[in-house]
Amino acid sequence: MNDSATADIREPPPAKQALATRYQTVRACSLALAAPLSAEDAMLQSMPDASPAKWHLAHTTWFFERFVLGADPAYDAVEPRWDLLFNSYYNSVGPFHVRAQRGLLSRPTLAQVLEYRAEVDARLLESLDAGRFDDATLQVLELGTHHEQQHQELLLTDIKHAFWCHPLGPAYRSELVHAPGESRLMHWIGSEESVVEQGAAPWPASGRFAYDNESPRHRVLVPAHALASRPVSNAEFTDFIAEGGYEDPALWLSDGWDRVQAEGWQRPLYWHEDGAREFTLAGWRERDPHAPACHLSLYEADAFARWAGARLPTEAEWEHAAGGQAIEGNLLDAQALHPQGRARDEAGLHQLFGDVWEWTASAYTAYPGFQPLPGSLGEYNGKFMSGQVILRGGSCATPANHVRASYRNFFPPHARWQFSGLRLAKDLP
Ligand code: AVJ
Ligand code: FE
Repeated sequence: MNDSATADIREPPPAKQALATRYQTVRACSLALAAPLSAEDAMLQSMPDASPAKWHLAHTTWFFERFVLGADPAYDAVEPRWDLLFNSYYNSVGPFHVRAQRGLLSRPTLAQVLEYRAEVDARLLESLDAGRFDDATLQVLELGTHHEQQHQELLLTDIKHAFWCHPLGPAYRSELVHAPGESRLMHWIGSEESVVEQGAAPWPASGRFAYDNESPRHRVLVPAHALASRPVSNAEFTDFIAEGGYEDPALWLSDGWDRVQAEGWQRPLYWHEDGAREFTLAGWRERDPHAPACHLSLYEADAFARWAGARLPTEAEWEHAAGGQAIEGNLLDAQALHPQGRARDEAGLHQLFGDVWEWTASAYTAYPGFQPLPGSLGEYNGKFMSGQVILRGGSCATPANHVRASYRNFFPPHARWQFSGLRLAKDLP
């Protein structure tokens, strides 16, 4: 008997072991992200679009309980009444508490939610180890880890908004280090007209996780164009403001101009009116002129691009550029939790991954031949394909093993509380 045959008998299938490890790592990461928060912090809901940290911790747990453990019809839920509280939007599962009022859920307490997490972890890992999940359920388990990673980013963006609303501007983590960048010329990287492959091969058949909305992989005609070497910087966005960007309706989409008027927008969401500081997860800090501009709506990104004589990239252009690039950059793993400038760099494209999600010019719609996942999980992505815009590349709050070149994030065009910025594009003759 050779070594590998021995290993096959002694060890669980590598996929199962890898899944258990991924599950435990992701679950521990959420707890670490919540650790700096008090029970009071964890209950804050500062606006309808944001959720309390406690709710993120509970909802991600409910997802595993309902869709993985609950795949067994004989499964008894830890507390069946919590379906109503922690179901986000799955109509096919049952009724759910209104999103805008998640901040009213004082019960269960944070301590109870943490116990709930531990209980579901124990049950799930035991069932996984005992081999009680069929392949379809193992796939949902994997999906659940990616789902929890999405909520890790949301936990950070939501608590940032809540702390920004507090008159004393508390720090989530005051010790965060934000290294200053250097001034870097922006250059253009050209691409000839080409037919490119876009999207991911459908999961789970592919064996490589991707959301349903990234498939099928299909061909797209990409025109001759150029992409900027790096995202737009704070210094560049300051020029836009100084030259009256927020006062000139000619630069804005009509819906965007309405927002500028109605909400009195004069600068990116977290910029202080003193012109020097911005709110960060470390509290109020001096703004780095060379860091990527952040907390922009699609409207602001689009207006800036028009002012600069450029446009936003399409998602096909972005993915074409990112396809060959390593997934590295200022992602959650770097623990800066803020977009960073860089030292002067070589030719080529930089910061496609990390720092800021890059708004594209593409509406969030179905790829040709799109099939939502079967059952309730078909509600995960597909039903939101209306009125939202694609962002690409991940941010300083995105786990590195969550994002990829084909990853499609989406938010409504007015959303500003995500770590969202832009990279310029332009047509080439
Ligand atoms: C892709 C970030 C828009 O915020 O609802 C969380 C992520 N999907 N749970 C969202 C998500 C299901 C989603 N976004
Ligand atoms: Fe969710």
